[in-house]
Amino acid sequence: MNILVLAAGKGTRMKSQLPKVLHPVGGIPMLGHVLHTARSLHPKNIVVVIGHGADAVRQAFAKDVSQPAIHWVLQDPPLGTGHAVQQAADALIPDAPTLVLYGDVPLVRSETLAKLMDAARKSKGGMALLTTTLRDPQGYGRIVRNKDGALARIVEEKDADTDTRAIHEINTGMMVVPTTDLLRWVNALQSHNAQGEFYLTDIIEMAVAEGVLIGSCQPQTEEEILGINSQAQRTEIERLYQRRIAEHLMAQGTQLIDAGRMDVRGELICDSDVVIDVSCVFEGRVKLGRGVHVGPNCVLKNCEIGAHSKIEAFCHIENARIDAKCTVGPYARLRPGTELDEGAHVGNFVEIKNSRLGPRSKANHLSYLGDASIGSRVNIGAGTITCNYDGAEKHRTVIEDDAFIGSDTQLVAPVTVGKGATLGAGTTLTHDAPPNELTLSRTRQVTVKGYKRPHKKAH
Ligand code: UD1
Ligand code: CA
Repeated sequence: MNILVLAAGKGTRMKSQLPKVLHPVGGIPMLGHVLHTARSLHPKNIVVVIGHGADAVRQAFAKDVSQPAIHWVLQDPPLGTGHAVQQAADALIPDAPTLVLYGDVPLVRSETLAKLMDAARKSKGGMALLTTTLRDPQGYGRIVRNKDGALARIVEEKDADTDTRAIHEINTGMMVVPTTDLLRWVNALQSHNAQGEFYLTDIIEMAVAEGVLIGSCQPQTEEEILGINSQAQRTEIERLYQRRIAEHLMAQGTQLIDAGRMDVRGELICDSDVVIDVSCVFEGRVKLGRGVHVGPNCVLKNCEIGAHSKIEAFCHIENARIDAKCTVGPYARLRPGTELDEGAHVGNFVEIKNSRLGPRSKANHLSYLGDASIGSRVNIGAGTITCNYDGAEKHRTVIEDDAFIGSDTQLVAPVTVGKGATLGAGTTLTHDAPPNELTLSRTRQVTVKGYKRPHKKAH
């Protein structure tokens, strides 16, 4: 089968420089959802017709290595859906049927499209249309059927009389047509209509005139056929999409404290007994192990959290690996390259970057750990800072097992703290600290006897 995605429309109502089909739903360009669904049907050929912002659209999918590769076709200027299909003539495999989809209708399900393919296969003439019945059909092409219920034609709203406008069965735009017939029909289209466009929908009447009995079926839910033409519609579809993801997670046993207050912009994979509190955002690929708890208002991006770890409220975690039984936050920031081994604790206002915190090590308060290798059972005191940057280069700090770093310590990298070493509070460490000894850099404490505070002179 060929899948032909129409995506050349201008999207004027989005009021944006960004081509419409690149506007995101769940963090992915809406066209990406259509292509993902298309590929799940294993077509031989995928053709996408683009026009407005064609270069940007192609660019956005330049790194897409999924098969089959996208065959881009340019339609400029866009003269209607039928004209769009005409442009794709050379890109379609003639002896396979063509499934037409829209680049701005991102929520259609592959089950629905499989059903449509089936309806086409079963109908004499190999053609089928996805229709649906709407309480408010405004704006859509209406499905006109003859006395025995067979499809007769589609009338666009702008060309419809009052009786036709009263029809509630509408054209979703998605259809399956034998490719040679499709091309023959679109090449015969006329643009004598209210919009002066070449309507793909006019091929229905042509097919019927040739005695084709067109099959039809309907999607499971209305959301599947909704198109995005404005910012308001985008946000509506975003919610429906998030609801779909939430339902999928809950069906697998994930406890969402409020299914309506979670956003997945990418892929979220949860093991059993995961609990997610409200207002969390998951970006890229996030994997949560068994029994993981994520507190409210966390942002997790491209990370993996091990079993029974607890992420407290207001954490920001990106490109990090957190092993089992760790606790993080509240208010922790784990930047790219952070690795927490089993049972590590990271507390409030701690920032970690490109560093590994060994098993059961703790950094509980107000610290910056960058480019550091920290062993097991290390205690990092409050206010510890790795001075990893000398203004030109980054340097590593190594802290070996069982070390104790006193509060308000600066470790001027490159520097190593030996196994079991203790650093006194307030130390500025510029040379390695030997294992099992106390090292501190501090002037001795003195008391000045009889000291008097200055007083303000009276005027
Ligand atoms: C179309 C259908 C209408 C249907 C509705 C469903 C036609 C004539 N009408 O109407 O029956 O109810 O979709 O949403 O087909 N496109 C191009 N090139 C063009 C014009 C459009 O690629 O020259 C693409 C658009 O990017 C979009 C899709 O085709 O993805 C539909 O275009 P749109 O303008 O939204 O069609 P409607 O007028 O809404
Ligand atoms: Ca539309």
